[in-house]
Amino acid sequence: MTKQQHLGWFLARGFGPQGWGHPYLEWNYRWTDPALYQQAARELEQGGFDLLIIEDALSLGNASTIDLRVRQAFGGPKLDPLLLAPYLFAATSNLGVAPTVNPAAYHPYTAARQFASLQHLSGHRLGLNVVTDTGSARHFGTEQLGHDAAYDRAEEWLGGIRDLWRSWPEGSLIADPAKGRYADGSLLDPVQHRGDYFSFDGPLNNIPFTDGEPLIISPGGSGRGLGFAGANSDVQLALAPLDSASIRDYRARIHEAARQKGRDPADVTILFAVQPVLVSSAEEADRLVAASANPDDAAIRYVAERQSSDLETDLTTLDFDAPLDLSVFGDHVSQGSIKRLLGGYDPATTPLRAMLAKQARLGRINDRSGFVGTAEEFADLIEDLGESADNDGILLWGDLHPVTVHRMLDELVPILRRRGILRTEFGGGGLRGNLSDF
Ligand SMILES: Cc1cc2nc3c(=O)[nH]c(=O)nc-3n(C[C@H](O)[C@H](O)[C@H](O)COP(=O)(O)O)c2cc1C
Repeated sequence: MTKQQHLGWFLARGFGPQGWGHPYLEWNYRWTDPALYQQAARELEQGGFDLLIIEDALSLGNASTIDLRVRQAFGGPKLDPLLLAPYLFAATSNLGVAPTVNPAAYHPYTAARQFASLQHLSGHRLGLNVVTDTGSARHFGTEQLGHDAAYDRAEEWLGGIRDLWRSWPEGSLIADPAKGRYADGSLLDPVQHRGDYFSFDGPLNNIPFTDGEPLIISPGGSGRGLGFAGANSDVQLALAPLDSASIRDYRARIHEAARQKGRDPADVTILFAVQPVLVSSAEEADRLVAASANPDDAAIRYVAERQSSDLETDLTTLDFDAPLDLSVFGDHVSQGSIKRLLGGYDPATTPLRAMLAKQARLGRINDRSGFVGTAEEFADLIEDLGESADNDGILLWGDLHPVTVHRMLDELVPILRRRGILRTEFGGGGLRGNLSDF
């Protein structure tokens, strides 16, 4: 039996100069113009996508390595995705939109109020991708928290926001002209929050939601991150190898974390992130993969430039033919990003070139060695994961140029719909409704 699945799109690298230097800019897309994103958001909605998530980073990162981020625009600049959201809501009717938000940047009262406003304005289609990166503390004049403390702060922040959202209990909104009464202020919860990180009073200057609170999304992959998802999230964004065993294992960990917090595991939708390269024939896919087997200097350098931005460390100045001395990475660099660069190699004995070459090499979808293939082959993979691992859905990863969206979806959407995997219509219940339609 084919399992219906949820599709999401992750606007990777955020609301920034996506695709800078790429020929598709000749289509006259301007990344600061909402029309670009509106056009793509409409197409995602027409293609049956449940939600669009917009990546973000508050900061250009470590003060001494800012140039690495901006010189090819791999890591910045970025505008605020929360303020792009209303334009996307205005262009669509069913698509959920989830900007990335970091508790470091918003006081809970401001956050509760702004998110509530967007939830009402959008017809209950707001999601919030809650991240805990701590590298932006200096911009806010606050102390830089450790990894787990940032999660503690995020939990306190979210709990406080939810208390504020719930400060208008049932019966408090009357809105009855015959009674001459709009609301009953005596029922409002004063919410006096005194915590480790925040201190504030309620109630919120808001009204109750008619179709539920904004959706909470989380992408954290650490043990603490999975615990956060189990306790708090409606949607978890997952990075894992796309095989049945890994997906089952990841799902079991989130479900267990949810159970431990007394939640129903079925209330957490888990979307696995993937960036396929879809081409028109198996021969073309084979050709692409074969051509990437021995990456030339230009390909290696391109990978090094991208990695330098993510790692806030200039790899392009290192000797590619020497082993990698891990002391080049400052304390602020993410351990997960370093691990990804090493790709399982021992840095003391492996030349940097071998690690970069591994990143540049492509693999085929049909033999599960990578993500290059035809739309049919990719649909086979999605269908298989639904059946063999009970997968909830897939998060496609890329920029949001209509050219990218078309390349990815033109063939894929009809194939998934013919197979009964992808929705053909929406239930009209906002973003929460999208996720509970099936
Ligand atoms: C699919 C996916 C999306 C992510 N999006 C963001 C993002 O937009 N901004 C960000 O700072 N970190 C992002 N992260 C990275 C971290 O997971 C995130 O900063 C987190 O709060 C720290 O998580 P950890 O539990 O993995 O250490 C993303 C990770 C994944 C797998």
